[in-house]
Amino acid sequence: MKVSVIGCGYLGAVHAAAMVKLGHEVIGIDVDPAKIAKLAAGITPFFEPGLPELLVDGVESGRLRFSTDITDAAGATVHFIAVGTPQQHDSGSADLRFVDAAVDGLIPVLAAGDLVVGKSTVPVGTAAAIAARIDESGSGALLAWNPEFLREGFAVADTLTPDRIVYGVDDERATGVLDEVYAAALESGTPRIVTDFATAELVKTAANAFLATKISFINAMAEIAEVTGADVTTLADAIGHDARIGRKFLNAGIGFGGGCLPKDIRAFSARAEELGRAESVAFLREIDAINLRRRERVVDLAVELLGGSVFEKRIAVLGLTFKPDSDDVRDSPALDVAARLHGLGADVVATDPQGIENSRLRHPQLAYEPDLDEALRGADLVVLVTEWAEYRALAPERVGQLVASPRVIDGRNVLDPDAWKSVGFDYRGLGRR
Ligand SMILES: NC(=O)c1ccc[n+]([C@@H]2O[C@H](COP(=O)([O-])OP(=O)(O)OC[C@H]3O[C@@H](n4cnc5c(N)ncnc54)[C@H](O)[C@@H]3O)[C@@H](O)[C@H]2O)c1
Repeated sequence: MKVSVIGCGYLGAVHAAAMVKLGHEVIGIDVDPAKIAKLAAGITPFFEPGLPELLVDGVESGRLRFSTDITDAAGATVHFIAVGTPQQHDSGSADLRFVDAAVDGLIPVLAAGDLVVGKSTVPVGTAAAIAARIDESGSGALLAWNPEFLREGFAVADTLTPDRIVYGVDDERATGVLDEVYAAALESGTPRIVTDFATAELVKTAANAFLATKISFINAMAEIAEVTGADVTTLADAIGHDARIGRKFLNAGIGFGGGCLPKDIRAFSARAEELGRAESVAFLREIDAINLRRRERVVDLAVELLGGSVFEKRIAVLGLTFKPDSDDVRDSPALDVAARLHGLGADVVATDPQGIENSRLRHPQLAYEPDLDEALRGADLVVLVTEWAEYRALAPERVGQLVASPRVIDGRNVLDPDAWKSVGFDYRGLGRR
């Protein structure tokens, strides 16, 4: 099939390359000329494991092209919308300007029988409004909403072999087209849920709300553990054995971040309020508040460990991205902690395997050191805030030889407290004894 993908960021670039792998011919469109120039040359503009190979294969096959001109989407019969839906600057609502612009750009190129497929995460009700606009345009094109569940760091595998595919449709012809698009995944047994627009939009919002709730739940337990001497990791292991609860997403730490969960729960609250159902998701505001409190907790622990002030103390911050195996620092708790410590006058040296470039754009005031040993050298305190494999695997003896004082805050509860304490470290986890 001939496919266009409008918006080639973390979602769209992976989706475009994956569509080629699934046998389609793809044109990726983005308004960012630098991004398009890189993609067209087979260079991945962000870090995502497995994407460079997929992109190069696609570009070399001649079936994956890129353009900044949306009229180049003409001739494709399926058009995916994968543009950003960030939080508005002055409220929690989703900013739909980019989605609206993508639809404006697409309408003139649509032909009868084409299918526009929304993948961006949008407030419930958006798809129905876009369907009405496409209808009014008289093009004879159809709309489907097909939310995306990929996880950064696993985006390629999640796109090629998703754990479920959801179609929000109002015309069964759209289902037929999507079945053709996803034929390979469907043949391998991927569950397919066909529903209406509103349910499809809400599936995505509800999934992220649930995941955020699970993380903030265990972080709330960490807060209680901290004042009772209980251990949240043992608690999570014990409750996680209950199959109804499950152990995944029950790791207490500095909380969630990234380009999805924080803005999606805020947009959900804002949309529920518009719908007169604010109280139905009022708990999400508390989920958000618990999440943000964990960052403060790390800063408070740093102050405590350094004897009442971080001023002019050298702090090695390990990790900047919101999760490992990504370079994404959007709403990253790790970067936020680094910036807060710097704001208190600490001599912060921040390191990250992939996140330095993006962090520097947001916080140029911070000192960045790509070499881990150099970042650790002479530190009065080590703060681990993103659980990259190399930080999890750090040998406490070696770190002890590099730092000025053996103090460590394990903001992700991934280090072995006994191993660090046994070589003289003052170790603090979150909600850990
Ligand atoms: N990143 C994820 O893990 C993920 C997972 C599931 C869903 N989503 C959702 O997917 C959407 C995109 O997220 P992302 O992380 O890829 O964002 P992103 O910011 O990385 O990418 C968005 C891209 O859209 C481009 N764009 C903006 N306006 C455009 C226009 N009018 N025409 C063409 N391109 C345009 C931007 O230049 C940018 O490259 C969001 O709604 C997000 O919530 C993201």
